[in-house]
Amino acid sequence: MAFSLNHSLEFLRFFFLFLFCSSAHSHVPAIYVLGSSQVDAGNNNYLSTVIKINFYPYGIDLAGGKSTGRFSNGKNAADFVAEKLGLPSPKPYLSLTSKNNKTSEFLKGVNFASGGAGVLDNINQGLCIPFSKQVVYFAKTAKAIAKQIGIEQAYRHLSKSIIVISIGNNDILAYTGVGSSTIQHGITLKPYVHQIISSTRSKLKRMYKHGARKFLIIGAGAQGCLPVERVKQKGGVCNEEANQLSKMFNQKLVSLLKETQSKFSDFRYAFFNMYNGYVELYRNRRTYGFDEVNVACCGGGFLNSTVFCSPKTIPPCSNRRSHLFWDGIHNTEATAGVYMSIAYHGSSPFVYPMNLKQLNDV
Ligand SMILES: *[C@@H]1O[C@H](CO)[C@@H](O)[C@H](O)[C@H]1NC(C)=O
Ligand SMILES: *[C@@H]1O[C@H](CO)[C@@H](O)[C@H](O)[C@H]1NC(C)=O
Repeated sequence: MAFSLNHSLEFLRFFFLFLFCSSAHSHVPAIYVLGSSQVDAGNNNYLSTVIKINFYPYGIDLAGGKSTGRFSNGKNAADFVAEKLGLPSPKPYLSLTSKNNKTSEFLKGVNFASGGAGVLDNINQGLCIPFSKQVVYFAKTAKAIAKQIGIEQAYRHLSKSIIVISIGNNDILAYTGVGSSTIQHGITLKPYVHQIISSTRSKLKRMYKHGARKFLIIGAGAQGCLPVERVKQKGGVCNEEANQLSKMFNQKLVSLLKETQSKFSDFRYAFFNMYNGYVELYRNRRTYGFDEVNVACCGGGFLNSTVFCSPKTIPPCSNRRSHLFWDGIHNTEATAGVYMSIAYHGSSPFVYPMNLKQLNDV
């Protein structure tokens, strides 16, 4: 009897140990964020640039109403991803580089994103950290981590982490003349998208080489329906060419992800189709608690379509929770929250081939 009880206890202990290990094994230790203003947490505050929004009313709904450099009234998509995974929101890379113990900070995750950034280097050149440079910073970070904890541990850490990427929206806007760029004159949609995708291919490969295995990729939104695009159209309708680019970009990006997975079998990804997310939210606005899906919450002119909220002293709309757009280009905190909830729990055609929750568990 005593033996059998002892035996059972031993078994139970073993069982719990197993449970503990298996859950610890699937736990994501950190997120690393790359991309544009959809996910920038304040890197641009460290640059000398006009693409900097460290002023009222940006951040009005954050704790203390602080303008952190987020292009939103509150939290952005990256903040919501961190929240869903029970992790702290990673700090801007440029806020960490001067610190003595930066490697211990690096282990907690890093945000490399920069407002205005494109896949192509000539998008808002000199005004932001382009995607290519963000990837260089990611590689530097990986090397610093390896130096501190050893290359094998560093690989293990990065392979369990989730890399969040939201890039491409500015490449699409640039094609229609929003932002500054020197894209090839007269280039048509297909070769333009091809350029963006082949540039993305090498970046993914480089991150993979440094140990990145799990990716949440946030695709392009319906860029043609942003107030900044609609204001240029007769009757304020969506810019079909920009939307066409968004759809094409998302489609080719998914092909690239499939291709990458066929080459590297341990490459895992969840793709969030923000275009489809927008259509869903726009059509079923009430379900999601929205009633203003056209006019931005702050800014000026038709549809409040100015790129940024301005002038800086005018209060934004008071019902921010029910607005889809914050300014002429950016989502409200509410919109980002709905999108990332769908990315976490949802399924095709919004998020595939798995959702963020499943990506967390693999
Ligand atoms: C060093 O790291 C610790 C914890 O990771 C943090 O609390 C502290 O503020 C950091 N110190 C500096 C000087 O960055
Ligand atoms: C447009 O922006 C202004 C602030 O610039 C704000 O007061 C107003 O409420 C916004 N309009 C709508 C419909 O949200």
